[in-house]
Amino acid sequence: MVRLGFDLVWEADDMRMLIRAAPTLSLAGVGAAAIFAVSLAGVKLAYCLLHSCDFATARARPVPKDGFKGKVVWITGASSGIGKELAKQFAAKGARLILSSRRREALLAVRSDIVAASRGTVQDEDIKVVTLDLEHVDSMRDCTRAAIASFGKVNILVNNGGVSQRCLARESMLQLDKRITMTDFTSHIALARALLPHMHDQGAGNAQIINISSLAGKCGIGLRSGYCAAKAAVLGWMDALRAEEAALGTGVKILNVCPGSVSTQISNNALMGDGSKFGVTDPNIATGLPVEYCCERVLAAAYAELEESWIARPQELFPFYLYQYFPFWMRRTMLKNSRATIERTLGKKISMATLVLPTALPITQMSSRPASPNPTTQTPSTRPITPQTAERGGESLRHLSWIRERHIASRGSASTLY
Ligand SMILES: NC(=O)c1ccc[n+]([C@@H]2O[C@H](COP(=O)([O-])OP(=O)(O)OC[C@H]3O[C@@H](n4cnc5c(N)ncnc54)[C@H](OP(=O)(O)O)[C@@H]3O)[C@@H](O)[C@H]2O)c1
Repeated sequence: MVRLGFDLVWEADDMRMLIRAAPTLSLAGVGAAAIFAVSLAGVKLAYCLLHSCDFATARARPVPKDGFKGKVVWITGASSGIGKELAKQFAAKGARLILSSRRREALLAVRSDIVAASRGTVQDEDIKVVTLDLEHVDSMRDCTRAAIASFGKVNILVNNGGVSQRCLARESMLQLDKRITMTDFTSHIALARALLPHMHDQGAGNAQIINISSLAGKCGIGLRSGYCAAKAAVLGWMDALRAEEAALGTGVKILNVCPGSVSTQISNNALMGDGSKFGVTDPNIATGLPVEYCCERVLAAAYAELEESWIARPQELFPFYLYQYFPFWMRRTMLKNSRATIERTLGKKISMATLVLPTALPITQMSSRPASPNPTTQTPSTRPITPQTAERGGESLRHLSWIRERHIASRGSASTLY
């Protein structure tokens, strides 16, 4: 086809022939460009799969020795798994550390390990411990003050602490979603908010926020409804913050990390519908990426000041790439496999008959309003509608229409309310 196009142009001695030849040539050009683009994409994809991360992360150079010297890095969830390994690797690259989580003893043990492994280059004074509970989001401001006071500054915040979930959405209580959301999302933005004024004072190039989100934040996965929602929320909020910081010219860098399965205690510590621990390392996590490799790439991505980083085994990375570029097709494939995937993780068959519905408190008792005088142990779905509950529903509807009327009065239209 390319030859035909050139021949026509070459032999044509009037304009009409030249014009007729042009579409043939451009068609050939488009075809060649498409083949080139597909080949390039194939080569890039192979490179990504070989390195178990996205292209930019795969290309990021390893951090040089002392690459983080002079920086103070605050890591939440530093007592275990990814947070613990990040602490080791940041310390090895010259950073001073603030370690946080709920378990003080575990954090002190991490500090001792790092100091012992450093052969004299890291002292106890280079690592401070600030305990915090990410579920108590109102305490994040005080924790931030304590963290800044540790060394007089914080250059890098690593929002890593988190908890996962292993239960059907239908089997979990609203309190569980709230707990996961507080730990995996609200605490992250509370810490960022509290730390940003200090980061702005540090000047451009001296402040970075690293968020350990998840590939589960890119696409909903069964048994993790609250977790996926919280991880997606982190990505959205932090992307918006990055845009604002760029607009304000503050120089605060934001890196969102999306790991796939990494071999840690995450599924063992994951929560079930009633809030108890799953207590099992599921097959994905057992065969997940080594935590050392995942963290080495996180540091490389942070050093290269990337904005997003995907780190996962090829068998997870490939479907996520497909999901990104062919969502419709991939969603259908995932739905077809979802029962098998869920049953493999839970180690049991599921059906409507086997559902264990939560003995949830009525929604009125989960809010900050006083508890109802007649709490019922029946599930919301099976609770009969009594004149009292109907009255409560009526109250909510009246409240909604009041909001709607106020909105129409102030804006002149109700369309943006819904
Ligand atoms: N492993 C994976 O496959 C994977 C994949 C994608 C994303 N991630 C994310 O990576 C992060 C680290 O997970 P991991 O794999 O290292 O799991 P992990 O071994 O279970 O560690 C979780 C860490 O979070 C801390 N934490 C949990 N709840 C907390 C709370 N309420 N307040 C303060 N700290 C709390 C724990 O410390 P204490 O118990 O001492 O409080 C622990 O240090 C999480 O955000 C997780 O969602 C993990």
